[in-house]
Amino acid sequence: MGTFSQSWLPLAGDQAVVRSLREHDLPALYELEADPWVKRYIVGKPFSKPREDWLRDAQALCSSDNTFCIARSKSDTFLGRASVGHYIRDGRHTDRELQVLLRRSAVGSGVGREVCTLLMKAAKEYLGATRLFAEVHPGHPHSPALVHSLGFKEEEPRIASDGQVVARIFVFNV
Ligand SMILES: CC(C)(COP(=O)(O)OP(=O)(O)OC[C@H]1O[C@@H](n2cnc3c(N)ncnc32)[C@H](O)[C@@H]1OP(=O)(O)O)[C@@H](O)C(=O)NCCC(=O)NCCS
Repeated sequence: MGTFSQSWLPLAGDQAVVRSLREHDLPALYELEADPWVKRYIVGKPFSKPREDWLRDAQALCSSDNTFCIARSKSDTFLGRASVGHYIRDGRHTDRELQVLLRRSAVGSGVGREVCTLLMKAAKEYLGATRLFAEVHPGHPHSPALVHSLGFKEEEPRIASDGQVVARIFVFNV
């Protein structure tokens, strides 16, 4: 927790701001994490933690150096979460992984593109990243086009032991 300074936050865009999570964001963050629609293309295990347990443990996220709040610029309404944490590949930490998760009501109006652009710039200017990765569920209908248009190039996918593609991998040389 808090291993490097968050002095580079907030990042302000026209529609949205990326800032540290605050305690009052946590109930909305829980709703986001528990929404099967939002999570339908997220690689990993389904979300199953009971609300009260999750909320208690989630206090630590408010000092996280990796999970940030996306809020509406003018009203500060919670829109989702973003991260640009270390990317673990073949058991090694390498560069950074960009992840954006918006609540259902915020999808499709340009917030995702704006937040990705803000974080790509911050990764270069403040975090010293040389490469950014995006892992995308093979069935995701929008993310591949979004990351392509932001300048990411597709690499070999992540494949499970049964030969199934688990995630498409996109990389951006910062
Ligand atoms: C994926 C996600 C981050 C994209 O953010 P967004 O704000 O919805 O997307 P934007 O409005 O910025 O649009 C980005 C591109 O995706 C396309 N797109 C997004 N939502 C779309 C929709 N519902 N229908 C059609 N196209 C859509 C747009 O064509 C747009 O391209 P354009 O700018 O060339 O028109 C967001 O939808 C989300 O968080 N979804 C739920 C969680 C998730 O799947 N996260 C991604 C994990 S890899």
